[in-house]
Formats: sequence, structure tokens, C-alpha cells
Amino acid sequence: MTVDAPETTTLQRFVQSGVATAVMGELDNVMKSHNEANQTVKYPDNRPVKLSIKNLVVGYLDHQSGQTTVAVDKVSLDVREGEFVSIVGLSGCGKSTFLNAIAGLVKHQYGEIKVNDRLVNGPGKDRAVVFQKASLFPWKKVGRNITYGLELSGMKPAEAREKASYFVNLIRLTGFEHHYPHQLSGGMQQRVNLARALACDPEVLLLDEPFAALDAITRELMQNELLELCEKVGKTVVMVTHQIDEAVLLSDRVIIFSARPANILDDIRVPFSRPRKGLIKDSEEFRSLMSHVWKIIEGNANIGGGI
Ligand SMILES: Nc1ncnc2c1ncn2[C@@H]1O[C@H](COP(=O)(O)OP(=O)(O)O)[C@@H](O)[C@H]1O
Ligand SMILES: [Mg+2]
Repeated sequence: MTVDAPETTTLQRFVQSGVATAVMGELDNVMKSHNEANQTVKYPDNRPVKLSIKNLVVGYLDHQSGQTTVAVDKVSLDVREGEFVSIVGLSGCGKSTFLNAIAGLVKHQYGEIKVNDRLVNGPGKDRAVVFQKASLFPWKKVGRNITYGLELSGMKPAEAREKASYFVNLIRLTGFEHHYPHQLSGGMQQRVNLARALACDPEVLLLDEPFAALDAITRELMQNELLELCEKVGKTVVMVTHQIDEAVLLSDRVIIFSARPANILDDIRVPFSRPRKGLIKDSEEFRSLMSHVWKIIEGNANIGGGI
């Protein structure tokens, strides 16, 4: 039996999909440029691996030019059950692309993504995503926004209502179940989004800059709320953010992406014990970890030609 080299596999896929010219672009260079990245087992841990990503390559094909822009370049990452992992990096480096590939919203060209050892080939109930902008149905009340997805997945309405009410309570929005999204502040809307995602009980919660659209004060408050929430529900979380303080405060590990195409520059374990309070941001240890992360990003930005 012969096993195809990675280059051949990618080539074949593109040829089969009728976009053979794409291999003449960046994607081809990435596939040839270096060997497969090593699997990151930097921090041994007994917990089972919930999310496993191996040599992930994601590119976007421009149909007009036939060129592919590679956003994610052979990224390998294991996330263990209950871990909170943040991805930080420059704007445009490929963070959202990486997250969207995990969510199954963007197709990857090479490598694999597994949740609980099951291959990801598209969106699924085992993953829930919260985006930067609240994506609630404007014509549905808060309670219905949460129960809708649950009922779609087959849950009985009474059970869905009970579940929704538990999460509404958890995010401290009791009394607002009958409000429409436009009657809520941005922070409250984002809390409903979180509740909706958590109510689906996903194996992995994916957050893409969940607080970036909020004002600075609300963002700080929401970070503290998410900290508490995650410690209560113990979910496996992957969060993309460009806020280094947010990443350090909330995470067990901070993964630093290079400038595009993204690969992992460093995987840093955050040493603070849990439960954590937002107040740790004032500590010297916190500030020095933030500055360490920043220096790695900045150093790479300089090499890569600026921010
Ligand atoms: N839908 C798309 N089509 C084509 N190119 C895209 C698309 N989405 C993102 N890109 C490109 O991929 C690169 C990474 O983008 P993105 O993942 O959004 O970065 P980040 O989230 O780190 O800011 C950028 O060069 C961006 O222009
Ligand atoms: Mg983004």
C-alpha cells in the first residue's frame, strides 16, 4: 500500500475540485516550505483531549486570480477537557479563520480537526460559536432566542424553557426573558448569546472576540462574568482575542499566532490558580506575563514587516 505525500494529497484535492490553478499560489509554497509541525504536547496533562487539531492548513481561493491566500499554516493544537485556551495574534493573522475551521464554517485544505476523536467536516451540535457581534434573532424574545436552537435539536418545549431559564439565571438576566434584543444593552445581548451557546451544552465552546464590540467598562465586567461562568460550567473553551489581558485573565493557556499565515509562535501556560478574580490584573506577575506575550507578538510583527 502506498501513502500519498501531503503535497500530492492537497494537489489532488484541488485538481479534483476543479481549481487546480490554486496550487500555483501561496498554498503550494506553504505545503512545500517545511515539514509537518510537531504536535504540541508542551504541557503533559491527564485530562482527555477534547479537541485535537493536526497540521491544519486553511486557505481562501480567489476565483478571479486563481490564487490562494493561506490564512492558517499547519497548526497543531490539543485542547483538553475543561481547558480554556486563548488564541492571540495580530489583526488579519488567521485567528478567526482558525476558529471558523473548528466550527466547520470554513473548509480546511489539509490536516484534521477532531472533537472527542470524531472528525469535523462541517458545523455540528458538539460545537457552539459566539461571535463578536450578538447574533440574536431580533424578532424573538430573549427566552425564545435561547429555546429556539434547543427545540430545533429535538428538545421538548417545556424542557427547553426550563434549560433556558437556568441559563438566563446563570447570566443574571432573570426578568428579561420577555424582552426583545433591541431592548437590551450590547453587554446584555452578548450575555444572551453566551447563554444560548451554553444551553446547547456543546463539547467545545468557541468564542471569537466576544467582547470586542463592547465599551471598555462593559468589556471588563463581561470578562469577570465569563471567568465566573466558565468556572461554574467547566466547559472546554477556545477563545480568539486581540486583547492580551483578556487572554491571560481567562485562560489556562495562551497560544500566540504568528503574522499570516498563522502558525504557533508559542504556547504559554498561565500560572494563576482558580477561581480567579479580575483583580489579578493589578499584580506584577500578571503584568509581566502580558508583557512577555506582547514582546513575542511584537517581535514577530517586526520580522513580518510591521503591524
Ligand atoms: N472569506 C474570506 N475570503 C478571502 N479571504 C479571507 C476571508 N476571510 C479572511 N480572509 C483573509 O484571511 C486572512 C486571515 O483573516 P482572519 O482569519 O479574519 O484574521 P484575524 O481573525 O486574525 O484578524 C486575512 O488575510 C483575510 O483577508
Ligand atoms: Mg478575526
